[in-house]
Amino acid sequence: MIKHNEKLPIVVLISGRGSNLQSIIDQAASGELPVDIRAVISNRPDAAGLERARAAGIETAVVDHRDYPGRETFDAALARCIDRYRPRVVVLAGFMRILTPGFVRHYRGRLLNIHPSLLPAYRGLNTHQRALADGARRHGASVHFVTEELDGGPVILQAKVPVHPDDTPETLAARVLAEEHRLYPAALRLLAEGRIRLDNGQALLDDRPLETPLQLDRLTAGAD
Ligand code: GRF
Repeated sequence: MIKHNEKLPIVVLISGRGSNLQSIIDQAASGELPVDIRAVISNRPDAAGLERARAAGIETAVVDHRDYPGRETFDAALARCIDRYRPRVVVLAGFMRILTPGFVRHYRGRLLNIHPSLLPAYRGLNTHQRALADGARRHGASVHFVTEELDGGPVILQAKVPVHPDDTPETLAARVLAEEHRLYPAALRLLAEGRIRLDNGQALLDDRPLETPLQLDRLTAGAD
């Protein structure tokens, strides 16, 4: 159990741009978010996010999936690399590999992901395009515990955005991404404060079942 005055040790996994990573780095650096980013690990050596980590003086590592014959061996190597840093929580921030059930079980209750939709709507890829094609009026992003079901684990926190009539997948993605940058640090703060945990496949907030995901706007309004 993390005490309230301790920083939550985390490792962040990325595959690309790393803008969510940057928001976590920035809030950790400003003291708003009590996490200790022990390392940033990428499956792609050219991920731009690695440079963001280096610029912030954070240790980086690459476990290139192309060096392994299959998912099991890759995930085993990835877990070995992660565990060297002894994180309490593993943060998937644009990590574009499907993880094996064994990997997910190893980090049960300690593995988080951010997904660009209001889960359970639009699991998987091309979420913005699919929301527009459906004529959705609301869209957004979710932070959830990772379970063996792809994008199916209990959702902790969501942020909603309106869909505008003239939106393209790009304009909608940009609106959602701006919210993601507030959302992930806010969800991590709840974990760092020991307020959220996974118990028997269910997310608990302050030891009570979280029946519906928390909403970022209400959370921040409540904090004022
Ligand atoms: C984000 O849209 C996130 O929701 C999804 O992948 C994207 C990562 O972006 N899982 P970035 O690498 O954090 O900029």
